[in-house]
Amino acid sequence: MTHPQTTTKFTEFSELFRPIINQKMAEYIRFGTLDQRKILEDAMQYSVAAGGKRLRPLLVLATHQLFSDQMETVYPLACAIELLHTYSLIHDDLPSMDNDSLRRGMPTCHVKFGEDIAILAGDTLNTFSFELLSTQLADFFPAEAVLKVIREFSRACGIHGMSGGQVLDLRGVGLEADPEYLFQTHALKTGALISASISLPAVLGGVDTKELAILTRFGDQIGQLFQIVDDILDVVGNQEALGKSINKDHEQNKLTYIRVFGLDRSLEMMRNQAHNARQTLEELSLPKFSVLYSVVDYIETRTT
Ligand code: IPE
Ligand code: IPE
Ligand code: MG
Ligand code: MG
Ligand code: MG
Repeated sequence: MTHPQTTTKFTEFSELFRPIINQKMAEYIRFGTLDQRKILEDAMQYSVAAGGKRLRPLLVLATHQLFSDQMETVYPLACAIELLHTYSLIHDDLPSMDNDSLRRGMPTCHVKFGEDIAILAGDTLNTFSFELLSTQLADFFPAEAVLKVIREFSRACGIHGMSGGQVLDLRGVGLEADPEYLFQTHALKTGALISASISLPAVLGGVDTKELAILTRFGDQIGQLFQIVDDILDVVGNQEALGKSINKDHEQNKLTYIRVFGLDRSLEMMRNQAHNARQTLEELSLPKFSVLYSVVDYIETRTT
């Protein structure tokens, strides 16, 4: 496969690399099962192929290119994070969670395949992402760095990260407006995986402790920014463009930025957070961080 020349604009960067990520993921989860398990494979392929912005794998590639021109070495990490994220969406949409019927412009996994298969498709994407990391990275990176990546990735997905945040989100329903609770929920349910999409390729790139701390802080800031925008789009977004139902948070009385701060203040906080993220990048002494700079604009102005 040929690898595209890179650019400094994140939208162009996405157009170049999104098709490769899509192709790689489809290949990774093609198991060729012919017995009763085929429906599981179909469900996984369906939810992965449905689309999505691919922000997390693109962040992996944009960060990796700070250290290397060998993009193919981090496709397994990029894809593992997106597969894990897709699992989190399948479960997030389940009737027992957010009870959504539309995702990525298509019927949700449980609507299409039934709740039993959707739960298992999520479980299998979850475990497969770890299989991918533990089998594919060691050819290119030192074992110690690979182990650190798997350890940090596990943390980002578990009780200290995404699933912990999902519990805070579910249990936040009906709580009085509490900014600290909101920040923690968002940092865990969304921020952890987005931040890992920056810090993990940095670990593989052998970055020093100081630069890693800066990049991790940047990851946390764009993670929070991403979820502020997600909460805003639930109110002002377009269902067709977003490919998921809107006004859900209000209907379900979720503890969102809108509920805690109102729309105007949320927009102001969004702009402040974007500004903070840009400032953080200025601290880096690494060259070629312009794609990451452009990511901030992309997240701040996204409508999908
Ligand atoms: C939606 O994530 C769930 C959140 C963490 C807010 P995305 O907005 O990245 O969804 P896709 O991957 O583009 O469908
Ligand atoms: C989901 O947050 C975060 C995940 C871990 C999947 P939301 O519930 O706000 O995501 P959407 O709005 O359904 O995409
Ligand atoms: Mg949710
Ligand atoms: Mg949801
Ligand atoms: Mg949302």
